[in-house]
Amino acid sequence: MADEPATLVVPADEIAARVSELGAALSRDYEGRRPLLVAVLVGSLPFLSDLVRAIDIPIEVDFLGLSRFGEGGRIRIALDTAESVEGRHVVIVEDIIDTGLTLTVLRRMLEERGAASVATATLVDKTRRRLVDVPIEYRGFEVGDEYLIGYGLDWKGHYRNLDSLWAVLDMERLVEDPAALHDQFYPTQVERRH
Ligand code: IMP
Repeated sequence: MADEPATLVVPADEIAARVSELGAALSRDYEGRRPLLVAVLVGSLPFLSDLVRAIDIPIEVDFLGLSRFGEGGRIRIALDTAESVEGRHVVIVEDIIDTGLTLTVLRRMLEERGAASVATATLVDKTRRRLVDVPIEYRGFEVGDEYLIGYGLDWKGHYRNLDSLWAVLDMERLVEDPAALHDQFYPTQVERRH
């Protein structure tokens, strides 16, 4: 399907296998510490959901909602964690690290709030696009520069529910019409777009 506007990057079974490995690594590294997994909404939800079931030690889960504004990665907390992070071993659960600016701000904030330790688990790492050096302890896949959708990743709220990761080949088309890939991904729904 060479003329499709998006191409498969990581199929669902490879995601599942890698997430199991990450879960096993977290289970080993955090044994006896009951980590607090802080998932960054909304894109990390499929990853979080699979990851927690691959972890076989006691954990807790919490959520953070961020809104981004302006250039330079300025972020604001739109929804704060329900739990205090003070004294907790926090694992940030992210969908994708791009420039690293969001993660840098987040790590600093959690450290300032007195977390006992802060680590990051991200499904996808766009290493080549990094603007700031930030540690990433658990990484699912290193990818290139392409814009990715699926398995939580969206374009303007679309495509989060695809079970695989896809790279967008024709970004201009998507900018013009965020639903442009509905025909490829939701073929039975073409009559009911948007
Ligand atoms: P950064 O690391 O501060 O540049 O921002 C990371 C955030 O940018 C992620 O949490 C996503 O919301 C968004 N993002 C970056 N690259 C992609 C992509 O390829 N697909 C979907 N969202 C992306």
